[in-house]
Amino acid sequence: MPDLSVRAIRGRLLSFLRAPRGAGDAESYRYLEDGIVVVKDGRIDAVGAAADLAARLPAGTPMEQHPDALIVPGFIDPHIHFPQTQVIASYGAQLLDWLNRYTFIEEQKYADPKHAAHNAEFFLDELARNGTTTAVAYCTAHPASAEALFAAAHNRNVGMIAGNAVMNRNAPPGLLAPAATAIADSRDLIRRWHGKGRQRYAVTPRFAITSTDAQLAELGALLAEFPTCLMQTHLDENLDEIALIKKVFPNDASYTAVYHRFGLLGPRSLMGHCIHLEESEVALLHDTRSVAVFCPTSNLFIGSGLFDYARLKAAGVRIALATDVGGGTSYSMLRTAAEAYKVMQLQGQNLPALSAFDLMTRGNAAALGLENEIGSITPGAFADLVVLDARATPAMAHRMETIRDIEEELFVLMTMGDDRAVRQTYIAGKPAL
Ligand code: GUN
Ligand code: ZN
Repeated sequence: MPDLSVRAIRGRLLSFLRAPRGAGDAESYRYLEDGIVVVKDGRIDAVGAAADLAARLPAGTPMEQHPDALIVPGFIDPHIHFPQTQVIASYGAQLLDWLNRYTFIEEQKYADPKHAAHNAEFFLDELARNGTTTAVAYCTAHPASAEALFAAAHNRNVGMIAGNAVMNRNAPPGLLAPAATAIADSRDLIRRWHGKGRQRYAVTPRFAITSTDAQLAELGALLAEFPTCLMQTHLDENLDEIALIKKVFPNDASYTAVYHRFGLLGPRSLMGHCIHLEESEVALLHDTRSVAVFCPTSNLFIGSGLFDYARLKAAGVRIALATDVGGGTSYSMLRTAAEAYKVMQLQGQNLPALSAFDLMTRGNAAALGLENEIGSITPGAFADLVVLDARATPAMAHRMETIRDIEEELFVLMTMGDDRAVRQTYIAGKPAL
């Protein structure tokens, strides 16, 4: 009897081994023109050239064929807001105004578990349609919102990282967690979901403005109590936000120093935006090994500014790339990479296609400390994969007539591609579409 949990996926396979040193760094990846991924119980059991592996598969092993398509590890989105699926495309405001006029209004609807459960399904469908197989998501302050997302993700065996955005000031009362239960609710979510199946919890102060010193201290203590949890928050996104931070925290040397004072920086801390950093803040991010998360479509749409990738890279700060929907305007990591490229061009910098694809897969996995589990097509990792078609539209197919190698194909995909280029998404080896 063949083991029915074994299946195979065949196509052109690309996976990164380390961060590329620049365009043309062929040592940074493994590319198989005709490769097979063997999946057993949701994880990758073997990877190799079809010429070697095909004959060794047990007779009757189901094989999904993707002859012209490129199979890469599923994309990882390390900063996205689950309750902002109906905030995306909100007109005419910069950060603080945008939060007050649109975001804080919409997020109050997540007090209703039915609304949260319904939108969790939409959110996960949309991620899959865009080839995103793991995301780090903000939920609202209502524990029911995180509960809904974890439950829906667990049902689908999708590895999500999420947390309830804890706030106790500077937001409408409907979004403020009750002081008595805020931390208890968070601890309860950790106990229920952190490490259950593929789910993980992220301690989530929304941003320093919306928590008092006492609450930030409690969140820092929670992170210390559960050191395998991640931490997500926002940092140095907008100039008016920074001016407000100076008023609210007059005694701290910088915005980053506020988070540092409460023990919220570290190798599992994901700091969204990081646009307007002082030198001392860059040093703090580096010294604590915190991750600066580049959110290009959001930074452009909300008019926040240009992320200085080259500066942070030169300083040795860890960098990840994310959509930040619904400040961000697309669920697609391909669209996100396209905007990252343009933001860097505006500063005289380049983003080689190899680096962009590494970031969206292995690089973002490493930023989450999950590089042994996701982000690579390698034995032992989850078989989270995306099948990409660089000829998905007439304009892409036309451009593809002139490309000469895999790097040019990747550049077409990241510049012109979106959900239309996603032919299939596999979650733990199973088709999600
Ligand atoms: N800062 C605090 N909350 C948010 C949010 O929801 N989106 C963005 N882009 N920045 C924030
Ligand atoms: Zn955000």
